[in-house]
Amino acid sequence: MKKYLNDKLSFEGNADLFDEIPIWSAPFGLKLLDSIIYKPGITALDIGFGNGFPLTEIALRLGESSTVYGIDPWKDGIARTNRKIKFFGINNIKIIEGYAEDIPLKNNSVDLIVSNNGLNNVSDLEKVLGECSRILKSGGQFLQTMNLDKSMFEFYSQLEQVLAELHMEKEIELMHRHIYEKRRPLDEIIPMIKKHNFMIKDLEHDQFNYKFTNGTAMLNHYFIRIAFMDSWKKILPVNKQEQIFDTIEQRLNEQALITGEVKLSIPFVMINSIKK
Ligand SMILES: C[S@@+](CC[C@H](N)C(=O)[O-])C[C@H]1O[C@@H](n2cnc3c(N)ncnc32)[C@H](O)[C@@H]1O
Repeated sequence: MKKYLNDKLSFEGNADLFDEIPIWSAPFGLKLLDSIIYKPGITALDIGFGNGFPLTEIALRLGESSTVYGIDPWKDGIARTNRKIKFFGINNIKIIEGYAEDIPLKNNSVDLIVSNNGLNNVSDLEKVLGECSRILKSGGQFLQTMNLDKSMFEFYSQLEQVLAELHMEKEIELMHRHIYEKRRPLDEIIPMIKKHNFMIKDLEHDQFNYKFTNGTAMLNHYFIRIAFMDSWKKILPVNKQEQIFDTIEQRLNEQALITGEVKLSIPFVMINSIKK
């Protein structure tokens, strides 16, 4: 009997698994999923799959004749992904707990590598690109998405202005370094990719906007707190953090009274390349 005719798959009692993808990851991920060349019988790798995205979706879309590896060092993410894999009844995923700087796969053994906001989080991008080039077959597809250096410029320009008013030049420099480290400029990343024997097929630019009623709502949003606040705080001396964020919050709130919202622009790119 076919699996899909025989099972009683239900989210009853499994509501915590009823989310394929975090809202933040969706705009990047939809573009990436749309650009994959789907073929039977291939070997794929997802770098930095977090809670299982797009790993499980790609495994399901490719079907059981393909094998999809996922590499990530995050233990909790791996545990949750393994629960999803079991619940969805997926048989073609192999999880690797580790770092993409050192991928335990053979040379020229993979047809497709994807990374949804993963490669901008690795510590040694040059090394990771070398590993991708080593394991990907000639003609293989390498798809990655990442948000760009102008992300959230609305917030950063407020922060820079407040720091300038307080004559905190060192912190302004730290802020620019933080942006550079988190979101390397595309004109540095593209030559790196090419250097590792890839040909760029498409560069698709897009943008979504993270909108809030005002600065208070934005700064209290759980995702801002969990994903960004720590790195923003690290730029600032502890004894000034409250004063600086208070000023920024007030200014964003005043601005929202006029414009009706606080908007954080998230420009991003999908790089679709082919191994030579
Ligand atoms: C922003 S999350 C993206 C998660 C997921 N792809 C998504 O779209 O929701 C980045 C992921 O990269 C992983 N990561 C960080 N450094 C890594 C490395 N050196 N090799 C592989 N994965 C890494 C993190 O553990 C995290 O799960």
